[in-house]
Amino acid sequence: MSDLVSLGRGTTAAPAAPRGAARRKVFVHTFGCQMNDADSQRMVELLRRSDYAPTAHPEDADLILLNTCAVREKAEQKLLSALGRYREHKARRGAVIAVGGCVAQAEKERLLTRVPYVDFVFGPDHVAELPALLERAGRERFAETGWMDPEEYLFPRADAEAARGRATAFVTVMKGCDNVCSFCIVPHTRGREVSRPADEVVAECAALAAVGVREVTLIGQNVNSYRGGCDFAGLLRRVAALPGIARVRFTTSHPHDLSGALVEAFAAEPGLMPHFHLPVQSGSDPVLARMRRDYTVEEYRERLDRLRQARPGIAVTTDFIVGFPGETEEDFERSLRLLEEARFDNSFSFVYSPRPHTGAARRLGSAPEWREVPREVAVARLERLQAAQRRISAEGLAAQLGRVVEVLVEGPGEEPGSRVGRTPWNHLVHLAAGEAEAPAGARVRVRVTRAGGSSLSGEPA
Ligand code: SAM
Ligand code: SF4
Ligand code: F3S
Repeated sequence: MSDLVSLGRGTTAAPAAPRGAARRKVFVHTFGCQMNDADSQRMVELLRRSDYAPTAHPEDADLILLNTCAVREKAEQKLLSALGRYREHKARRGAVIAVGGCVAQAEKERLLTRVPYVDFVFGPDHVAELPALLERAGRERFAETGWMDPEEYLFPRADAEAARGRATAFVTVMKGCDNVCSFCIVPHTRGREVSRPADEVVAECAALAAVGVREVTLIGQNVNSYRGGCDFAGLLRRVAALPGIARVRFTTSHPHDLSGALVEAFAAEPGLMPHFHLPVQSGSDPVLARMRRDYTVEEYRERLDRLRQARPGIAVTTDFIVGFPGETEEDFERSLRLLEEARFDNSFSFVYSPRPHTGAARRLGSAPEWREVPREVAVARLERLQAAQRRISAEGLAAQLGRVVEVLVEGPGEEPGSRVGRTPWNHLVHLAAGEAEAPAGARVRVRVTRAGGSSLSGEPA
């Protein structure tokens, strides 16, 4: 998960302004997951039509937009400190400051009271109305955080032109989440699940392919429950069949309802990349039950086995929470054991953070099995888990040394004369090649010459 995606940083170059037109500038600070990344892109595209150009410099901006994440308390604190930094731009330049995303949805009007220099607050359901909200901001301070009727919800459509020159794109296929994981604030901030009609998803992917995008990642909080006219496996097949789309990925999938059809898609569909992010959260059944994850460790292992049979060599990544209420040393050891046995290619792990409106936060400290884990114990567990993962990830990367792999080139690397891209297994590769040899969107055969802790280096084979 990225903490900061500045859409003004040249990834979505602004088209030339009409001669004489006075363009206003928008700076977007994105926190959180790919949902927010995609929403921020849509906001920039909408604002372009209202004559705003993106900028990478908040000090130049007429509009500062913060697209926020509420998943852990730390994410909220980051928002408050970012707001503190942007306050001076408002004082100096009169910039409008707007807060969208998950903190906006959770806090609503309270955010206007807590931060008096915020002009308006809007929830994720209101992204498409942003230009109208901006006009309203000239007259009043407000929070627009009502839910749209799922029947009437319209997914903001990506402007394919904005993706010209890029090799990869996220495509939103669902919004919201109907699960009730007891630690998670997302159902509260993103509302009920709504699937985007399959024809719309396919049309967006085709438009992206027509401007040169070669890889699409279909995103939703729980893609297994996709119902947009076909099931998720059906949607993947339709997207993979599009001319120009060489690679399809998706995220995120809940282990509880990982369907046989989705597993089969990995066996049957070569365009579906061999990487699966399957968050397990814990290696202990009593903890999983308190988390309301609705699967056991054994069931998770079985699903993993089925996936690995369907696509031998598939890279599997996961998420862990440590220090969940009542987690004993033995529970934690089970998570560690699962990590060692499953040999995840990578994992994202977090110390449990009690969130408002969640079942676990309500029960915290209410019974022995809901006992709070002291912070220093949780942090020490996190460090052990992450150290084990670093070792396993490095071993996995080292096993690639000398192999020839296909890399989809994404763009320039940090070093002059280098390019970056990804393998089918989603490993980042630094490529010793120039743009002529490895233009964005090209699939290049690369010999792996170096394996680092989190990426590979190589040269055209
Ligand atoms: N929908 C995905 C799923 O079901 O696995 C996860 C979405 S959540 C935005 C991403 C990750 O954040 C979760 O998998 C979990 O590990 C972590 N997370 C969510 N709530 C958390 C909390 N209260 N404290 C710590 N980590 C949390
Ligand atoms: Fe949160 Fe669970 Fe929904 Fe994922 S599936 S977004 S963890 S409630
Ligand atoms: Fe954060 Fe909201 Fe995504 S809480 S992780 S931005 S859905």
